[in-house]
Amino acid sequence: MSAAAWLDSPLLKAARRQPAARTPIWLMRQAGRYMPEYRELRRTTTFLELCKNPDLAAEVMLGTVERLGVDAAILFSDLLLVLEPMGVSLEFSAGEGPVLGNPIRSAADVDRLLELESIEPLSFVIETVRKTRAGLPDSLPLIGFAGAPFTLAAYLIEGGSSRDYRRVKTLMYNDTGAWDALMGRLARAATLLLNAQIDAGAQLVQLFDSWAGCLGVDDYRCYVLPHVRSVIEALRPGVPVIHFATGNPALLPLLGEAFGTPRRPAVVGVDWRIRLDDAWRTIGYDKAIQGNLDPVVLLTSPVEIRHHVKEILHQAAGRPGHIFNLGHGVLPQTPVENVLALVEAVHELSSR
Ligand code: CP3
Repeated sequence: MSAAAWLDSPLLKAARRQPAARTPIWLMRQAGRYMPEYRELRRTTTFLELCKNPDLAAEVMLGTVERLGVDAAILFSDLLLVLEPMGVSLEFSAGEGPVLGNPIRSAADVDRLLELESIEPLSFVIETVRKTRAGLPDSLPLIGFAGAPFTLAAYLIEGGSSRDYRRVKTLMYNDTGAWDALMGRLARAATLLLNAQIDAGAQLVQLFDSWAGCLGVDDYRCYVLPHVRSVIEALRPGVPVIHFATGNPALLPLLGEAFGTPRRPAVVGVDWRIRLDDAWRTIGYDKAIQGNLDPVVLLTSPVEIRHHVKEILHQAAGRPGHIFNLGHGVLPQTPVENVLALVEAVHELSSR
């Protein structure tokens, strides 16, 4: 195969809205605790150690892709790692998820967040991209990723996950100057990280704005959209971008607007709270769409999964530009057989 075989892969064709032999599928959190091999590895290695060991991190994703038969690999890493060289301490505690030290609470605290001046302190991420790319067949694309500025800001300010996001929103409303300084710094860090991943071998990138759905439409437009747009505009020309958020289907048109006038293939990631056909109409058929099976469906049975797959493919209506995915990450309780059944059902029911 030629070095650019991935350009003809179903995933990159779908990103460009060209007809493909079948609907491509990959899964957010396709590598993780639902897999016995991963749990075994985690008995001796912490999650952070794993992320900082490019050989192991690449191996985790390569093994996963082979086992599942999905149409893409995603960099094995975490979106919070970028914050460490910006002066934030990071821990993943069992059960509680990420815990960030010394959270930003006031405008004065914003100055404590360091500018990410170079990719050097995150060279392990870039090395993982290289090793994953080197281990993949040429026909499979590698997806790079970063946290979008709002989601990174939410973690920084809340200090971890949050129910009401009251701290991050209070700072956002109270002090626009400090907010823009913070978001600008996070946007520049995400841009540096994504471009370095692209240069090291990622064929497309996904921006995760997992918590942006807590915002209303007007606030998203005012406080978030300009910063996401600045990231997308500064990415290497022509590289496809998937822009993903969860929780608020009313934001979908704005997720599309973040591409400006698309000079690159644009994909909007959609969760399960809206029908795929309604979502695509809202986003516009000039963009590709990714989604949107409810991850909880994977806790049921192959028969039930197949039924949902059929329904989503029916809503996509064979229009070029659909990347099958979940509406959010695979849950740790998911049986591996059900994930295999999902991949098989999507491939079988969509072959053209
Ligand atoms: O398989 C993949 O998708 C690739 C790797 C990947 C991870 N995190 C690995 C991971 C990706 C793309 C992410 C992105 C990420 N990280 C997001 C965006 C996606 C989303 O779920 O909204 C977010 C919000 C994070 C932050 C994060 N990392 C949280 C909240 C948690 C704890 C909750 C949980 O599910 O464990 C993590 C830990 C994490 N990231 C694990 C993995 C495999 C589990 C770590 C472990 O205990 O082994």
